Amino acid sequence: MSNSQNTMWGGRFAAGPDAIMQAINASISFDQRLAAQDIAGSQAHAAMLAAQGIITDNDAAAIGQGLLTVLSEIEGGTFEFVTELEDIHMNVEARLRDLIGAPAGRLHTGRSRNDQVAVDFRMWVRDQCDAAIAGLRSLQLGLLDQAEEGADWVMPGFTHLQVAQPVTWGHHMMAYVEMLGRDVSRFQDARARMNESPLGAAALAGTSFPIDRDATAKALGFDRPSANSLDAVADRDFALEFLSAASICAMHLSRFAEELVIWSSAQFRFVNLSDRFSTGSSIMPQKKNPDAAELIRAKIGRILGATVGLFTVMKGLPLTYSKDMQEDKEQVFDAADALMLALAAMDGMVRDMSANQDALRSAAASGFSTATDLADWLVRVLDMPFRDAHHVTGALVALAETKGCDLPDLTLADMQGVHADITDAVFGVLSVENSVASRTSYGGTAPVRVGEQIAAWRERLATSG
Ligand code: ARG
Repeated sequence: MSNSQNTMWGGRFAAGPDAIMQAINASISFDQRLAAQDIAGSQAHAAMLAAQGIITDNDAAAIGQGLLTVLSEIEGGTFEFVTELEDIHMNVEARLRDLIGAPAGRLHTGRSRNDQVAVDFRMWVRDQCDAAIAGLRSLQLGLLDQAEEGADWVMPGFTHLQVAQPVTWGHHMMAYVEMLGRDVSRFQDARARMNESPLGAAALAGTSFPIDRDATAKALGFDRPSANSLDAVADRDFALEFLSAASICAMHLSRFAEELVIWSSAQFRFVNLSDRFSTGSSIMPQKKNPDAAELIRAKIGRILGATVGLFTVMKGLPLTYSKDMQEDKEQVFDAADALMLALAAMDGMVRDMSANQDALRSAAASGFSTATDLADWLVRVLDMPFRDAHHVTGALVALAETKGCDLPDLTLADMQGVHADITDAVFGVLSVENSVASRTSYGGTAPVRVGEQIAAWRERLATSG
């Protein structure tokens, strides 16, 4: 067909496209991923056309049957995608014509590829929001199990990657449950906003046929038809919102992945990653590398890249549809695939990994991590202004450093040498267990608070579905 005219739009053309034109123009190599959505959209459109008396019931039935055959050919892998037919819309329609003949030509009544691609892609992205939400919920459950098992295991909390104050393993896991919870709500919000049907906007201006946009919107699971036909065919906010939510989510996964890389190192030994989510080295037999975590850490690159890419494509485009917009799909496909894979890999890793309670405990006690508890004690018991207490504690830390010991190992005489009023009651606040147990403020790391958060999230996940 390469030298002939396109049967869908070739009426005014004397010659077929140049091979290079075809190469830059065709999207079928990638938009075949929209086949199921395209056929669902056509089914809804044909049924509506018949219900409105725009086409006959017989034609609609033939179209409906034919589309089912096309779908089964595509799903069965026997469908022959033709580059000359440009995209999924024309490939499906051409095959429909082969199968049922003339009635196929009535399917495109009151419709354009502009609203067709908009509705197909919206449905595809909507499905990806659902998939992301399901993946996130599963990961949250894995984290809750981890949090529950080690709700009171003490570990160092870090700022600047320097030991700051002791926290609990459960508290750290629950930090990610919170982050992923916000990710879920971003995908939910985006999904709710995108759930308007552009179908029936036709090329850009609507149509003179008495179509029923409410009916097609309903049939395709949309809340309502979009209210402005120009906006309907020009809008790709839904894809941008999905990508934005995906980017933030991928950033969260990247941060957690980085922690797992650090924690699984011989220097930290905070966690053991399972063999199932690690790889070996071809030269160093002792190595067990956290490759899955490293790849999850990296996925943000392509996901954010796609986000910036699509923003750049859309920026400056005049209303309404421009062919530039065909460049929306590959980036979203790639980003969605990367996100789902990263979520699944993180889910598997979290479920398989085991925290090393002893290593966490001994790291928690290092680095004078209870210095703040000591300063707080000076404030509370000796009624010192916090700034003075900070200073006295600094002197005690310096003393411990010179003696090569931790704060709880200083003697009372050592302490009183720095400040005479210190009593041996101070030793009660220097253990990491007492430190975390004391942080009972709402949202704090005390096991009692962490337990409450775990219970609240379990309840929330059980009821939110
Ligand atoms: N393949 C096109 C795309 O992905 C479909 C819409 C084409 N519309 C048009 N008027 N050429 O955007």
